[in-house]
Amino acid sequence: MSLSIEVWHLARALIARRLGLDFSQLRRADLEREFARILGNLSPPAVDRYLDRLASLPDDSPEWGRLAGELTVGETYFFRDHACFEALEREILPTLIATHRAEGILRLRLWSAGCATGEEPYSLAILIDRLLPDRWEWTVTVLATDINPKALEAAHRGLYREWSFRETPQWIRDCYFRPRGKETFELDPRIRQMVAFVPLNLAQECYPAVMTNTNAMDLILCRNVIMYFTRDAQQATLSRLQDALVSGGWLAVSPAEAAADLVRPLVLVQFPWATFFRKEPRDASDEAASLPTRTLAQWPAEASVPVLDLAAVVPDTPCDPPVFPQVQMQVHAAATPPETEPILERARAFADQGRLEEAYRLCQNALGRDRLDVEAHLMLAAVCQEREDIPAALEALRRAIYLDPDSASANFLLGSLLFRQGHMGRARRCMETVVTLLCAVPRDEPVRGSGGLTAGRLLETAQGYLAMGSSPSGDSKPSDTQGSRPRNDDPKANKLTGARQALAGAGPAQKGNEP
Ligand SMILES: C[S@@+](CC[C@H](N)C(=O)[O-])C[C@H]1O[C@@H](n2cnc3c(N)ncnc32)[C@H](O)[C@@H]1O
Repeated sequence: MSLSIEVWHLARALIARRLGLDFSQLRRADLEREFARILGNLSPPAVDRYLDRLASLPDDSPEWGRLAGELTVGETYFFRDHACFEALEREILPTLIATHRAEGILRLRLWSAGCATGEEPYSLAILIDRLLPDRWEWTVTVLATDINPKALEAAHRGLYREWSFRETPQWIRDCYFRPRGKETFELDPRIRQMVAFVPLNLAQECYPAVMTNTNAMDLILCRNVIMYFTRDAQQATLSRLQDALVSGGWLAVSPAEAAADLVRPLVLVQFPWATFFRKEPRDASDEAASLPTRTLAQWPAEASVPVLDLAAVVPDTPCDPPVFPQVQMQVHAAATPPETEPILERARAFADQGRLEEAYRLCQNALGRDRLDVEAHLMLAAVCQEREDIPAALEALRRAIYLDPDSASANFLLGSLLFRQGHMGRARRCMETVVTLLCAVPRDEPVRGSGGLTAGRLLETAQGYLAMGSSPSGDSKPSDTQGSRPRNDDPKANKLTGARQALAGAGPAQKGNEP
């Protein structure tokens, strides 16, 4: 049995709108097969009911998560596409590292968008581990997002089978994995901890945003993902991903997806067998900092055959003191936000450009003027999260929630941080609070302190976290039973207690006064 033309059009439009996926004629049979698998048959009443139900559910509900899992291809493996990782290892990451080092900003922000079961972001993390001998001095973010909650759970576990290593040098497996049973390999927890797995639907407007930590990226890998999208969804996704890059930042898609017209105005940079796109520094004074746009013909002959030996980082080679290439100082070109803008808007603009020190100073300024400003605490938390200063981010969030227990943004940020830290019980309660706070709010209403995210988007992202399920590393701390809300049942009354006055006072708030 197959879907009627009308029903197929209906289904395909709904799926394109919600997931970005393209089920035009070429993939119609795939859609019918998956529907038949889910429903047991394709009888018109069953399909109609199913489509009605899907249309009434938010994108990140378990049902959509399940469908996304069925409809998407999760194929991936470590160091997939040698040429791409060669370019990362030999050119792009060393240049980024050297540039940031020269600037004195020891920070790197990388994002694997559409990470499936984690092999891609973990490959990045392994590269960083080898290329940054002084990693502990650095703030490194490796964000990994996907729409499929099951894939994210598997990624989080870090257990892999032989098939995930089909193009991986043996020494990488020896160095970073240990056998678990006969056919399973467990990733070194040190590498696992470098990657934050987060649910995110690329087809929706929930990024870039400080709130979802999807801004100011130095490098985004979005490979083998948008090839399954409709043209409109490809365009919208790539445009948002561009916005998520700092100037001078890099984007990689797979060769099949590398249509230059889709990524304009990013500049195509051709490496041997690998194509990347770069958001050029906009200011003329930055030109010296850009990598030359080399074509294949200009590349040295010996480099023209890509071999992933990760030569610069092979272990057992005596470790010379690292030599960092001399690069010109890269002044981030994006314009400095005008002084006339509200202080927190300026802080957000700086954060979006990766200028976290300026953003941090402005948040502190705002708090110097008004220590009860919930949005300033929130912005500070987001900036601290970007700086990977998690204790400071948690502290700022505790203050924000204390001042406004009903802040969906604060509960969301706290929940996402707790998820990252493996405190699953508390994280889930924060996300449940977000759902409770937002479920009755009109979907297109902007949420205060979220940097423009709508209630619908934040709600769905919170539901996406909840769909990831609980992990065995759930926390067991006694305070866990309290969730993110203060103990006092009346949050408004709580806001007016002495602790609030302490927050308002000149000195630092007394921790003991806070929930
Ligand atoms: C083929 S895998 C690519 C994995 C990895 N990037 C690589 O190249 O090896 C495609 C992934 O994209 C994810 N995906 C598909 N549509 C998505 C969407 N709308 N938002 C986020 N992820 C999506 C799928 O769940 C799947 O895990």
